[in-house]
Amino acid sequence: MKEKSKRGNFTSSFGFVLAAAGSAIGLGNLWKFPYIAGESGGGVFMVFYLVFILILGVPFIMSETAIGRKTQLSTIGAYRSINPKWTFAGIIGVVCAFFILSYYSVVGGWILKYITVFFTSGHTTAAAPGYFASFTANPVEPVVWHLVFMAFCTVVVLFGVEKGIEKGSKIMLPALFVLIVIVAVRSLTLGGNAMEGVKFLFIPDFSQLDSPAKVANVAVQAMGQVFFSLSIGMGISITYGSYLKKDSNLVKNSFIIGGLDTLVALLAGLAIMPAVFAFGFEPAAGPSLIFETLPAVFDSMPLGNLFAVIFFILVFFAAATSAIALLEVVSSFFIDSLGWKRSVATISTASVMALIGVFASLSFGPLKDATLFGMGFFDFLSYLTDKILMPLGALAMCLFVGYSWKPKSAAEELAIGRGGFRAVGLYSALMRFVAPALVIIIFVAGLINK
Ligand code: TRP
Repeated sequence: MKEKSKRGNFTSSFGFVLAAAGSAIGLGNLWKFPYIAGESGGGVFMVFYLVFILILGVPFIMSETAIGRKTQLSTIGAYRSINPKWTFAGIIGVVCAFFILSYYSVVGGWILKYITVFFTSGHTTAAAPGYFASFTANPVEPVVWHLVFMAFCTVVVLFGVEKGIEKGSKIMLPALFVLIVIVAVRSLTLGGNAMEGVKFLFIPDFSQLDSPAKVANVAVQAMGQVFFSLSIGMGISITYGSYLKKDSNLVKNSFIIGGLDTLVALLAGLAIMPAVFAFGFEPAAGPSLIFETLPAVFDSMPLGNLFAVIFFILVFFAAATSAIALLEVVSSFFIDSLGWKRSVATISTASVMALIGVFASLSFGPLKDATLFGMGFFDFLSYLTDKILMPLGALAMCLFVGYSWKPKSAAEELAIGRGGFRAVGLYSALMRFVAPALVIIIFVAGLINK
């Protein structure tokens, strides 16, 4: 646990919003969101996604930042200081971050590989049919890239995050934003069936929801994605909130963070789906969507190679900033709570995660047939975190606020820095009844569905 006297503060709300958005915006927005939306029916998924952002995402960020600013402690210490019985809620978050990073890094490795391919052999290679599948099935190459990605993050965490990556992300995030707009415009103007992609994303086809199992499936996908994308249930916002001054407006900041994250996800959808339809690809392609379809988009645009290199470098930075935050969450637990040295904690946790990631990577190739609960190992890790640990962490958080700390205390904290908080009744009903009920129903439905 960090000592109160040593804590820094964000110099401005803007700095906090950027840092929080930088951790939230990552592979979840650029890689996961488009493919999950594609697999889960497009528009129907989008409706659930946006509703969950509003009724779960934003209130949860508000609550987490309130816990953090009130206690001035990072996740586990924050829960412990309000009610020691709830320490486990913080522990769920750390375990979850641990498993996320072990497969996140595999995807980070794919991004690195694509950057080098665009540099060396150009977009036509990467756009060739079957290229991605044969690359990921290779027993050595993707494993090496995954280890390189993990090593990079480890070095950054060892040598300090603030000066390098924080400054870098202040440049990279706006740049990413500009580039994704360019790619989206290009994708939207491809002609042919491009507009079908927009319709697919934004016009829900409710006739798809013809059985309760299907409704549950889309709902569980959307909720898992909201939690993943906003890094909810892992106490990230508790830790960030603990660095905030009393004059910052937690409610407004939470809306801005949720809004920015959603905006980047929607732009990623608009960059990818119209192109998918224009080129006659399958929107439900799954995890390979950004690695097969985007190269095809770049293949068809002037200076495609240049755009491809820049785009994948920016995806890399988005991924790296999130991965570094994840590694920081896990290693700071060992540093703060178990008193390990920073170097020991960082290197040993990163090594164990890297090892787990090796198996996740191999599950696309040599270990394809080794399944756990009917899933390959990579998919299993993703299922375990998105559909089990994150909902559990989020459930623990809202029950904690609803019944232990009490919504009234949270509302008092939320009122500071904005001249009052009038929606106490609504907030309290959300945290005590609506959110827990929704999370439990969707969680159970997801388990039964599987
Ligand atoms: N939100 C990140 C993304 O969209 C992934 C993530 C989940 C994360 N939990 C986190 C990042 C905790 C940093 C810290 O890619």
